[in-house]
Amino acid sequence: MSPPLWTEIDQHLASTYVGPDEALDAALVASAAAGLPAINVTPNQGKFLHLSARLIAARNILEIGTLGGYSTIWLARALAPGGRLITLEADPKCGSVAFENLARAGLGKVVELRLGKALETLPMLASEKCGPFDLIFIDADKENTPSYFEWALKLARRGSLIVVDNVVRSGAVLNAESSDASVQGIRQFHELVAKERTAKQPRFSATALQTVGSKGHDGFAIALVE
Ligand code: SAH
Ligand code: DHB
Ligand code: MG
Repeated sequence: MSPPLWTEIDQHLASTYVGPDEALDAALVASAAAGLPAINVTPNQGKFLHLSARLIAARNILEIGTLGGYSTIWLARALAPGGRLITLEADPKCGSVAFENLARAGLGKVVELRLGKALETLPMLASEKCGPFDLIFIDADKENTPSYFEWALKLARRGSLIVVDNVVRSGAVLNAESSDASVQGIRQFHELVAKERTAKQPRFSATALQTVGSKGHDGFAIALVE
Protein backbone atom coordinates (compact mmCIF):
# COMPACT_ATOMS: atom_id res chain seq x y z
CA MET A 1 0.00 0.00 0.00
CA SER A 2 1.18 3.50 -0.79
CA PRO A 3 0.41 6.27 1.68
CA PRO A 4 -1.13 9.19 -0.26
CA LEU A 5 1.96 11.35 0.36
CA TRP A 6 4.30 8.85 -1.35
CA THR A 7 2.06 8.79 -4.39
CA GLU A 8 1.63 12.56 -4.44
CA ILE A 9 5.37 13.14 -4.26
CA ASP A 10 6.05 10.44 -6.85
CA GLN A 11 3.61 12.15 -9.21
CA HIS A 12 5.22 15.50 -8.53
CA LEU A 13 8.68 14.08 -9.24
CA ALA A 14 7.44 12.27 -12.32
CA SER A 15 5.87 15.38 -13.78
CA THR A 16 8.96 17.44 -12.91
CA TYR A 17 11.70 15.02 -13.99
CA VAL A 18 10.01 12.90 -16.62
CA GLY A 19 6.87 14.50 -18.06
CA PRO A 20 4.51 13.06 -20.61
CA ASP A 21 5.90 10.73 -23.25
CA GLU A 22 3.79 9.47 -26.12
CA ALA A 23 5.24 5.96 -26.48
CA LEU A 24 5.67 5.25 -22.77
CA ASP A 25 2.22 6.54 -21.90
CA ALA A 26 0.68 4.56 -24.77
CA ALA A 27 2.50 1.43 -23.57
CA LEU A 28 0.85 1.72 -20.15
CA VAL A 29 -2.58 2.39 -21.67
CA ALA A 30 -2.27 -0.64 -23.96
CA SER A 31 -0.96 -2.83 -21.12
CA ALA A 32 -3.90 -1.89 -18.90
CA ALA A 33 -6.36 -2.40 -21.77
CA ALA A 34 -4.96 -5.90 -22.27
CA GLY A 35 -5.41 -6.63 -18.58
CA LEU A 36 -1.73 -6.82 -17.65
CA PRO A 37 -1.00 -6.09 -13.98
CA ALA A 38 0.40 -2.60 -13.33
CA ILE A 39 3.67 -3.91 -11.91
CA ASN A 40 5.95 -2.04 -14.28
CA VAL A 41 8.62 0.22 -12.81
CA THR A 42 7.51 3.80 -12.09
CA PRO A 43 8.48 6.64 -14.47
CA ASN A 44 11.31 7.80 -12.23
CA GLN A 45 12.60 4.26 -11.79
CA GLY A 46 12.42 3.80 -15.55
CA LYS A 47 14.44 6.95 -16.04
CA PHE A 48 16.91 5.74 -13.43
CA LEU A 49 17.43 2.57 -15.48
CA HIS A 50 17.78 4.68 -18.61
CA LEU A 51 20.38 6.97 -17.06
CA SER A 52 22.25 4.00 -15.59
CA ALA A 53 22.53 2.47 -19.05
CA ARG A 54 23.74 5.77 -20.52
CA LEU A 55 26.25 6.26 -17.70
CA ILE A 56 28.01 3.06 -18.69
CA ALA A 57 27.38 3.60 -22.42
CA ALA A 58 25.66 0.23 -22.59
CA ARG A 59 25.54 -1.30 -26.05
CA ASN A 60 24.23 -4.74 -25.16
CA ILE A 61 21.43 -4.97 -22.59
CA LEU A 62 19.57 -7.97 -21.19
CA GLU A 63 16.24 -7.74 -19.42
CA ILE A 64 14.59 -10.64 -17.61
CA GLY A 65 10.83 -9.97 -17.29
CA THR A 66 9.30 -7.82 -20.03
CA LEU A 67 5.63 -7.48 -19.04
CA GLY A 68 4.31 -4.84 -21.52
CA GLY A 69 7.76 -3.49 -22.32
CA TYR A 70 7.62 -0.32 -20.24
CA SER A 71 11.05 -0.75 -18.63
CA THR A 72 12.25 -2.18 -21.94
CA ILE A 73 11.47 1.09 -23.72
CA TRP A 74 13.34 3.10 -21.08
CA LEU A 75 16.39 0.85 -21.36
CA ALA A 76 16.38 0.48 -25.15
CA ARG A 77 16.24 4.25 -25.60
CA ALA A 78 19.55 4.49 -23.76
CA LEU A 79 21.35 2.48 -26.43
CA ALA A 80 23.67 4.22 -28.84
CA PRO A 81 23.11 3.48 -32.54
CA GLY A 82 24.04 -0.13 -33.20
CA GLY A 83 23.21 -1.18 -29.65
CA ARG A 84 20.69 -3.89 -28.86
CA LEU A 85 18.54 -5.27 -26.11
CA ILE A 86 17.27 -8.77 -25.50
CA THR A 87 14.24 -9.12 -23.23
CA LEU A 88 12.94 -12.43 -21.84
CA GLU A 89 9.29 -13.08 -21.12
CA ALA A 90 7.41 -16.27 -20.26
CA ASP A 91 3.85 -15.12 -20.90
CA PRO A 92 2.86 -14.97 -24.60
CA LYS A 93 0.14 -12.42 -23.86
CA CYS A 94 2.68 -10.07 -22.27
CA GLY A 95 4.95 -10.78 -25.21
CA SER A 96 2.42 -9.68 -27.80
CA VAL A 97 1.48 -6.53 -25.87
CA ALA A 98 5.18 -5.70 -25.47
CA PHE A 99 5.82 -6.38 -29.15
CA GLU A 100 3.20 -3.79 -30.14
CA ASN A 101 4.39 -1.30 -27.54
CA LEU A 102 7.99 -1.59 -28.69
CA ALA A 103 7.01 -1.23 -32.34
CA ARG A 104 5.00 1.90 -31.51
CA ALA A 105 8.04 3.27 -29.70
CA GLY A 106 10.14 2.74 -32.83
CA LEU A 107 12.25 0.10 -31.08
CA GLY A 108 11.11 -2.98 -32.98
CA LYS A 109 14.50 -3.38 -34.65
CA VAL A 110 16.59 -2.69 -31.57
CA VAL A 111 14.82 -5.04 -29.17
CA GLU A 112 14.67 -8.79 -29.48
CA LEU A 113 11.88 -10.36 -27.47
CA ARG A 114 12.38 -14.00 -26.53
CA LEU A 115 9.38 -15.92 -25.33
CA GLY A 116 9.85 -18.71 -22.84
CA LYS A 117 10.78 -19.35 -19.25
CA ALA A 118 13.94 -17.44 -18.51
CA LEU A 119 15.60 -20.50 -16.97
CA GLU A 120 15.22 -22.09 -20.41
CA THR A 121 16.11 -19.09 -22.57
CA LEU A 122 19.13 -17.94 -20.53
CA PRO A 123 21.18 -21.08 -21.34
CA MET A 124 20.35 -20.46 -25.01
CA LEU A 125 21.75 -16.94 -24.80
CA ALA A 126 24.92 -18.39 -23.31
CA SER A 127 25.32 -21.07 -25.98
CA GLU A 128 24.60 -18.54 -28.73
CA LYS A 129 27.26 -16.29 -27.19
CA CYS A 130 24.87 -13.33 -27.02
CA GLY A 131 26.89 -11.81 -24.20
CA PRO A 132 28.64 -10.24 -22.61
CA PHE A 133 25.87 -7.85 -21.62
CA ASP A 134 26.85 -4.43 -20.30
CA LEU A 135 23.67 -4.11 -18.24
CA ILE A 136 21.29 -6.78 -17.01
CA PHE A 137 17.95 -5.90 -15.43
CA ILE A 138 16.39 -8.72 -13.39
CA ASP A 139 12.65 -8.24 -12.91
CA ALA A 140 10.78 -11.52 -13.48
CA ASP A 141 9.46 -14.12 -11.01
CA LYS A 142 11.14 -13.31 -7.71
CA GLU A 143 11.42 -16.95 -6.75
CA ASN A 144 14.16 -17.39 -9.33
CA THR A 145 16.00 -14.16 -8.65
CA PRO A 146 19.08 -15.97 -7.23
CA SER A 147 19.32 -18.20 -10.33
CA TYR A 148 18.81 -15.23 -12.65
CA PHE A 149 21.56 -13.39 -10.82
CA GLU A 150 23.96 -16.32 -11.29
CA TRP A 151 23.08 -16.36 -14.99
CA ALA A 152 23.60 -12.61 -15.14
CA LEU A 153 27.12 -13.07 -13.74
CA LYS A 154 27.82 -15.73 -16.39
CA LEU A 155 26.57 -13.45 -19.15
CA ALA A 156 28.41 -10.37 -17.87
CA ARG A 157 31.96 -9.06 -18.07
CA ARG A 158 34.09 -7.11 -15.69
CA GLY A 159 32.40 -3.71 -15.32
CA SER A 160 28.91 -4.89 -16.20
CA LEU A 161 26.04 -3.53 -14.15
CA ILE A 162 23.31 -5.81 -12.80
CA VAL A 163 20.12 -4.24 -11.44
CA VAL A 164 17.69 -6.37 -9.43
CA ASP A 165 14.16 -5.10 -8.83
CA ASN A 166 11.85 -5.73 -5.88
CA VAL A 167 14.39 -6.56 -3.18
CA VAL A 168 12.29 -5.17 -0.29
CA ARG A 169 8.63 -6.06 -0.92
CA SER A 170 7.20 -3.75 1.78
CA GLY A 171 9.60 -5.30 4.26
CA ALA A 172 8.29 -8.84 3.77
CA VAL A 173 11.91 -9.87 3.16
CA LEU A 174 12.56 -9.60 6.89
CA ASN A 175 10.28 -12.55 7.55
CA ALA A 176 12.38 -15.71 7.57
CA GLU A 177 9.24 -17.80 8.09
CA SER A 178 7.42 -16.38 5.07
CA SER A 179 5.51 -18.98 3.08
CA ASP A 180 5.69 -16.72 0.01
CA ALA A 181 8.10 -18.18 -2.55
CA SER A 182 8.81 -14.68 -3.94
CA VAL A 183 9.89 -13.49 -0.51
CA GLN A 184 12.06 -16.56 0.01
CA GLY A 185 13.63 -16.04 -3.42
CA ILE A 186 14.61 -12.48 -2.56
CA ARG A 187 15.84 -13.59 0.88
CA GLN A 188 18.08 -16.15 -0.82
CA PHE A 189 19.33 -13.46 -3.15
CA HIS A 190 20.30 -11.32 -0.14
CA GLU A 191 22.11 -14.33 1.36
CA LEU A 192 23.99 -14.83 -1.88
CA VAL A 193 25.11 -11.20 -1.75
CA ALA A 194 26.19 -11.47 1.90
CA LYS A 195 28.19 -14.61 1.21
CA GLU A 196 29.92 -13.09 -1.79
CA ARG A 197 30.90 -9.96 0.14
CA THR A 198 33.10 -12.00 2.44
CA ALA A 199 34.47 -14.30 -0.26
CA LYS A 200 38.19 -14.22 -1.02
CA GLN A 201 37.59 -12.83 -4.47
CA PRO A 202 34.08 -11.41 -4.64
CA ARG A 203 32.64 -11.60 -8.14
CA PHE A 204 30.76 -8.34 -7.68
CA SER A 205 30.28 -5.38 -5.38
CA ALA A 206 26.66 -4.49 -4.61
CA THR A 207 24.35 -2.24 -2.67
CA ALA A 208 20.58 -1.96 -2.25
CA LEU A 209 18.32 1.06 -1.88
CA GLN A 210 14.78 1.18 -0.58
CA THR A 211 12.20 3.04 -2.63
CA VAL A 212 8.79 4.46 -1.81
CA GLY A 213 6.35 5.93 -4.29
CA SER A 214 3.24 5.24 -6.30
CA LYS A 215 4.07 1.50 -6.31
CA GLY A 216 4.48 1.24 -2.57
CA HIS A 217 7.57 0.35 -0.59
CA ASP A 218 10.18 -1.69 -2.37
CA GLY A 219 13.79 -1.43 -3.44
CA PHE A 220 16.41 -2.37 -5.94
CA ALA A 221 19.92 -3.68 -5.78
CA ILE A 222 22.78 -2.80 -8.08
CA ALA A 223 25.87 -4.89 -8.55
CA LEU A 224 29.07 -4.01 -10.35
CA VAL A 225 30.76 -7.10 -11.74
CA GLU A 226 34.42 -7.31 -10.65
N1 SAH B 1 10.19 -5.19 -16.26
C1 SAH B 1 8.77 -4.89 -16.38
C2 SAH B 1 7.96 -5.60 -15.32
C3 SAH B 1 8.11 -7.09 -15.30
S1 SAH B 1 6.88 -7.88 -14.31
C4 SAH B 1 8.59 -3.39 -16.25
O1 SAH B 1 9.09 -2.83 -15.26
O2 SAH B 1 7.93 -2.77 -17.09
C5 SAH B 1 7.47 -9.50 -14.29
C6 SAH B 1 7.36 -10.24 -15.61
O3 SAH B 1 8.08 -11.44 -15.52
C7 SAH B 1 5.91 -10.62 -15.98
O4 SAH B 1 5.60 -10.15 -17.26
C8 SAH B 1 5.93 -12.14 -15.97
O5 SAH B 1 5.10 -12.75 -16.96
C9 SAH B 1 7.39 -12.44 -16.25
N2 SAH B 1 7.81 -13.75 -15.80
C10 SAH B 1 7.34 -14.46 -14.74
N3 SAH B 1 7.96 -15.64 -14.67
C11 SAH B 1 8.86 -15.69 -15.69
C12 SAH B 1 9.81 -16.65 -16.14
N4 SAH B 1 9.96 -17.82 -15.52
N5 SAH B 1 10.55 -16.35 -17.22
C13 SAH B 1 10.40 -15.17 -17.85
N6 SAH B 1 9.52 -14.22 -17.48
C14 SAH B 1 8.77 -14.48 -16.41
C1 DHB C 1 5.45 -7.69 -8.71
C2 DHB C 1 6.46 -7.84 -9.65
C3 DHB C 1 7.27 -6.77 -9.93
O1 DHB C 1 8.30 -6.87 -10.81
C4 DHB C 1 7.09 -5.54 -9.31
O2 DHB C 1 7.94 -4.52 -9.63
C5 DHB C 1 6.07 -5.40 -8.39
C6 DHB C 1 5.25 -6.47 -8.11
C7 DHB C 1 4.56 -8.84 -8.42
O3 DHB C 1 4.77 -9.90 -8.99
O4 DHB C 1 3.67 -8.67 -7.59
MG1 MG D 1 9.67 -5.24 -10.69
